[in-house]
Amino acid sequence: MAESQTSDAFVEFDRVQKSYDGETLVVKDLNLSVPKGEFLTMLGPSGSGKTTCLMMLAGFETATHGDIRLGGTSINNIPPHKRGIGMVFQNYALFPHMTIAENLSFPLEVRKIGKDEREKKVKRALDMVEMGNFGGRRPAQLSGGQQQRVALARALVFEPELVLMDEPLGALDKQLREKMQFEITDLAHNLGITTVYVTHDQTEALTMSDRVAVFDDGRIQQIAAPDVLYEQPENSFVAQFIGENNTLQGVVKEIKDGTALVQLDGGGMIDCFPVNVTKAGERTQVSIRPERVEFDKNRLQKGAHTLKAEVLEFVYMGDIFRTRLRVAGTDDFIVKTRNAPDQRRLQPGEQLEIGWLPQDCRALDAPAA
Ligand SMILES: Nc1ncnc2c1ncn2[C@@H]1O[C@H](COP(=O)(O)OP(=O)(O)OP(=O)(O)O)[C@@H](O)[C@H]1O
Ligand SMILES: [Mg+2]
Repeated sequence: MAESQTSDAFVEFDRVQKSYDGETLVVKDLNLSVPKGEFLTMLGPSGSGKTTCLMMLAGFETATHGDIRLGGTSINNIPPHKRGIGMVFQNYALFPHMTIAENLSFPLEVRKIGKDEREKKVKRALDMVEMGNFGGRRPAQLSGGQQQRVALARALVFEPELVLMDEPLGALDKQLREKMQFEITDLAHNLGITTVYVTHDQTEALTMSDRVAVFDDGRIQQIAAPDVLYEQPENSFVAQFIGENNTLQGVVKEIKDGTALVQLDGGGMIDCFPVNVTKAGERTQVSIRPERVEFDKNRLQKGAHTLKAEVLEFVYMGDIFRTRLRVAGTDDFIVKTRNAPDQRRLQPGEQLEIGWLPQDCRALDAPAA
């Protein structure tokens, strides 16, 4: 969804389009405003235009149409090194022939900062990422995670107001990635840096960001805080892309008192929250999170519609139980329940009735046939 431009915007994309070949638009109509100090993540499938947006902001690509502003000033004609933007990319790209300290000193030399001041800033930046003792080594003498931290320190050493990061943790193992996720957000918030971060890892996006912009096909499909994005997806793409989801196809029978009654293709009638359906007869894809499915009738609203279900598989996952059901003609309907002492472990073959609160089941656009 495009959002309105606010006056306190620090980074602004205003109706930005981009074509590399003069024919196809890879960025179609981008409107985005990022207030100062925000940690904003661009999340989306491969080829959706995330890196292109970052490159335009950094100044390595120009927008075909529209305007990009930084602090209210159009930056279309300002060269990259004059934009005061720090950058971290996936393959860190430290200068291999320089020591770590020299790598960090370089952006300061470019900015004509004196030797004493440089040494002080380099030391502080390396200490910040706990790499203070590694200044004399070369990049090849560091682990992947250590190189990534140095890259982060190098992006921050000249105290930029804005930092751009494109999949900076992609090459790291899970444990290190999670540690770095925490360190990056912590640093950004402590230093008051505005960050535009790119990833295609949704967990990373949800855990790190103040807001997430979900990209698809050169457009922002929805931009919102992580919890809003997860709990209130505005269309089928976002619902499917963020988190696990059960989807059922059907036709709207009636919309009344804020509830849509949907006749499922696979049989059965359910109550949903109408998100982007407006009238009876429309096709819809409804989406229900696995943790919002109820099989305890006492917890459903009076008169709630329920569906018959058969348990196909029960998986014990430690903290949760993941149960696969056959529901309304689909065999991959998932229910997740917390492993609590009084939680029932469903048995394959068991027949039950399931339901949910209408507000937890969203009637969204049906995918194009
Ligand atoms: N320099 C270029 N010349 C021509 N086409 C390009 C160029 N860079 C990117 N593209 C195309 O633009 C589209 C968007 O690419 P972009 O790199 O912005 O995607 P992305 O969202 O960053 O994807 P990924 O998650 O794979 O990094 C793709 O279709 C890509 O092929
Ligand atoms: Mg990319």
